[in-house]
Amino acid sequence: MRTKTELIKIAKLAGKQAIAPYSGFKVGAALLSKKGKIFTGCNIEVSSYSLTICAERVALFKALSEGVREFDCLAIYANTENFCPPCGACRQVIWDFARDLTIVLINKKKEQREVKIADLYPDAFDEQYLSGLEHP
Ligand code: THU
Repeated sequence: MRTKTELIKIAKLAGKQAIAPYSGFKVGAALLSKKGKIFTGCNIEVSSYSLTICAERVALFKALSEGVREFDCLAIYANTENFCPPCGACRQVIWDFARDLTIVLINKKKEQREVKIADLYPDAFDEQYLSGLEHP
């Protein structure tokens, strides 16, 4: 079984692949599936800024695209004093696809904070609001 320490190391390594020429802010993510497979992600910035994608979504989309649907833990590493909590867009994606996982935030001081998406993203929008639609 993979340990949390291992996952954190992998998230830190993943951040080295970040492409962040505009912000200089590099983020690494490592997503552990329930079956013990790890998917990594880093942020990838695009010259048309809004096309940029965060490390968390890269990791999650890689896993989903390979058919993996059940997740245990997501480690997010930023080489800064502060933690890097997932942005709003990532919170929505995590809520939709990995509601129960534990999120571990790690900063450059090697401090850790564990959070659940339900606490980060209360009163979330999701599929329940799409049911009962009346189409004109
Ligand atoms: N970023 C992430 O990769 N994850 C987050 O949770 C927050 C922000 C990236 C996007 C962009 O490349 C840079 O950090 C600055 O916003």
